[in-house]
Amino acid sequence: MKETDTNKTMRLADKVALITGGAQGIGAAIATRMAEEGARVAIADLQTGGELERDLTSRGYEAITVPLDVASEQSVNEAFAEVERRLGPVDTLVNNAGTGTPVALIVDTNPDEWDRTMRINLTGAFMCTKRALQSMIPRNTGTILNISSNVGKRGVPLRSAYSSSKWAMCGLTQTAALEVAKHGIRVNALLPGNVDTPHLAEVVKLHADAEGKTFEAYTEMLKSLSPMDRYVDLDEIAKVAVFLTCDDSSAMTGQLINVTGGWIMH
Ligand SMILES: NC(=O)c1ccc[n+]([C@@H]2O[C@H](COP(=O)([O-])OP(=O)(O)OC[C@H]3O[C@@H](n4cnc5c(N)ncnc54)[C@H](O)[C@@H]3O)[C@@H](O)[C@H]2O)c1
Repeated sequence: MKETDTNKTMRLADKVALITGGAQGIGAAIATRMAEEGARVAIADLQTGGELERDLTSRGYEAITVPLDVASEQSVNEAFAEVERRLGPVDTLVNNAGTGTPVALIVDTNPDEWDRTMRINLTGAFMCTKRALQSMIPRNTGTILNISSNVGKRGVPLRSAYSSSKWAMCGLTQTAALEVAKHGIRVNALLPGNVDTPHLAEVVKLHADAEGKTFEAYTEMLKSLSPMDRYVDLDEIAKVAVFLTCDDSSAMTGQLINVTGGWIMH
């Protein structure tokens, strides 16, 4: 915990938080906010350059970088073992790692690409949840947050694998919440709207190309889907992620929380 922050209420003080896909985008924003709230963060990602770790530690926060491929059970087990060895057991898991591709009609979608999306977005979250619960259940404590999507509550043309994986994450969230409530463990999902990240830029380009629009026109159309007529900021996602993983949300579990600028209202 940063020395100058000792007078501030730290909502995740000394908690060990593992954020999958934490090296960039939404995961990096969540890791940063959690560190600022006193968590000792493990940035677990395919990308292991350590840029965010250096930024956080230079500001006095505790952060480590851990190699992780959520699609591999062996990698999941090794990453958790490394975090436990260096920081202690995981108190908060954020299942954030994800891929947005393929962008294709169902009739053109290759089953191998479908499987890859499911493996990363859904099976990866399942394997990390399973491994986290193995140490949370004996301790009767913990919080898990699944980063689903606005397409976890609606369909969207050209994104069958992605949308299906994000709906399934919501089912995983509610099933896990029911299984572990008696152990004092809470499991919720956060469903972001459109957030300006490398992931979004990639899928906007693919959608624009597939639909014969320019990148700029497709971006404006996406923004107009929210009554706020804008994207959601990274920190607006991260603040809700902290809320859902700290005691401020102590009576909430199995919830699917939209952070979409009002786009999704159910
Ligand atoms: N950006 C948006 O508009 C948006 C909207 C809704 C939901 N989401 C979801 O939020 C999450 C984060 O999205 P983002 O926009 O920050 O994406 P991003 O592509 O910018 O970052 C994703 C991170 O996950 C990592 N990653 C990818 N595959 C991995 C794997 N197999 N194992 C470990 N790490 C892996 C990447 O290296 C990267 O650091 C995703 O699950 C995405 O589906 C994003």
